[in-house]
Amino acid sequence: MRKMPLDKRDITDSRLVLGCMGFGGAWDNSPITAEDEKKAERGIETALEVGIRMFDHADIYTRGKAEKVFGNWLKKNHDIREQIVIQSKCGIRFAEDNIPGRYDFSRDYILQSVDGILDRLGTDYLDILLLHRPDPLMEPEEVAEAFERLKESGKVRNFGVSNMNAGQMKLLQAYIGTPLVVNQLEMSVKKLDWVDQGVHVNQPAGRESHFAEGLLEHCMLHDIQIQAWSPLAKGIYSGGMEPVTEAEKSSAALVAKLAEEKGTTREAIVLGWLMRHPANIQPVIGTTDPERIKHCQDAVRQASLMTRDEWYSLYVTSRGHRLP
Ligand SMILES: NC(=O)c1ccc[n+]([C@@H]2O[C@H](COP(=O)([O-])OP(=O)(O)OC[C@H]3O[C@@H](n4cnc5c(N)ncnc54)[C@H](OP(=O)(O)O)[C@@H]3O)[C@@H](O)[C@H]2O)c1
Repeated sequence: MRKMPLDKRDITDSRLVLGCMGFGGAWDNSPITAEDEKKAERGIETALEVGIRMFDHADIYTRGKAEKVFGNWLKKNHDIREQIVIQSKCGIRFAEDNIPGRYDFSRDYILQSVDGILDRLGTDYLDILLLHRPDPLMEPEEVAEAFERLKESGKVRNFGVSNMNAGQMKLLQAYIGTPLVVNQLEMSVKKLDWVDQGVHVNQPAGRESHFAEGLLEHCMLHDIQIQAWSPLAKGIYSGGMEPVTEAEKSSAALVAKLAEEKGTTREAIVLGWLMRHPANIQPVIGTTDPERIKHCQDAVRQASLMTRDEWYSLYVTSRGHRLP
C-alpha cells in the first residue's frame, strides 16, 4: 500500500471518508434547526461506529452550516479530535449582488477562509485543506505564501486540491514547500471517464474522453491520494434514483446480482468496484442516512474480493458498449 507524507496519521487508514455536504439543512441563510443538528449527530456517530474516521467538508456546503453542525457535535465530543481526520476546502465564492459565482485562490481569501472554517468547526487545526476548483487567476506564489503561513501557524497540517489536472498540480507543487497529498475528483461506476481515458489512447473514441490526460498516473507516481466524490452516483445503483438509460438499468441489475451472490449490499459493490482499482481510490460517500452509511462498511472487503472478470463486467456494462 502506498504511503502518504502526512504529519500524524496515514489518511489511507480510513479507506472511506464521510462527505458532509448533506449536513446543515438548506443552501441558504435559514437558521440551523434541531433536526439538522440531530441528522449530523446521527450521521457522524454512525460513521465512527463503522470505522470511518475521516470527514470531508467545504466552506460552501450549506453556506457554512455543514461545518457549523459538525463543530457543534465536536464541541460535545472534543476528546475525539486527535483520532479523526478533518478535511475542508476553500476557493469557491458564491454570487453576490452583481458579481457572479467565482473562484478565488488569492492569499488573503485563502487565509480568511481558513479562519472561518476553523471557527465554524470549533477546532484550532485542519488536517487537510483542499483548493476546491481551479482558479484561472491563480498566482502560485500567493498560494504558496498562504500555505506557508497556515502551516507555520499550525492552522493546517496538509494541503491538497480538488478537480485539478496534472499540469495545474505540477505548477502549484513547484511553488509550495509541502507535498500535495490529495486530489478529489468525481469518479463512480456511472462517471467512467477516468477509466475510459486510459483505454481510449490511440482510438477515435479518445476524443470524447474528458478526463484530464495523465492525471491518475501523476497522482499514483507522486503518492497523491485520489478521492472520489459522488462515488455512489447519488444512489442510482442502490435504490436512490431510478436508472434511466439501458446501460444504467443493466448496471443496476448487475450490481444487485453481485450483491446478492456475495451476501453484501449494493453500496459495497459500487464502492468496492472503485477501490479495486490500483490507484488506491478513497471514496467520499455523501449519504447522511445511518442505514446507508452502514451499507458502505463492507466496501473494503468487497474490493479485495472482486475478481478481474467482475470488475470488467461492471465497467463494460456501464460503458454500454464493448472495449476497443
Ligand atoms: N470536490 C468537489 O467538487 C465535490 C463535489 C461534490 C461533492 N463532494 C464531496 O463528495 C461527497 C459525496 O458527494 P455526493 O453526495 O454527490 O455523492 P454520493 O455519495 O454519490 O450521493 C449521496 C447522495 O445521494 C443520496 N441518496 C439517495 N438515496 C441513496 C441511496 N440509496 N444510496 C446512496 N445515496 C443515496 C444521498 O441522500 P441521503 O443522505 O438521504 O442518503 C446523498 O444526497 C459530498 O458529501 C462532498 O463531501 C465534493
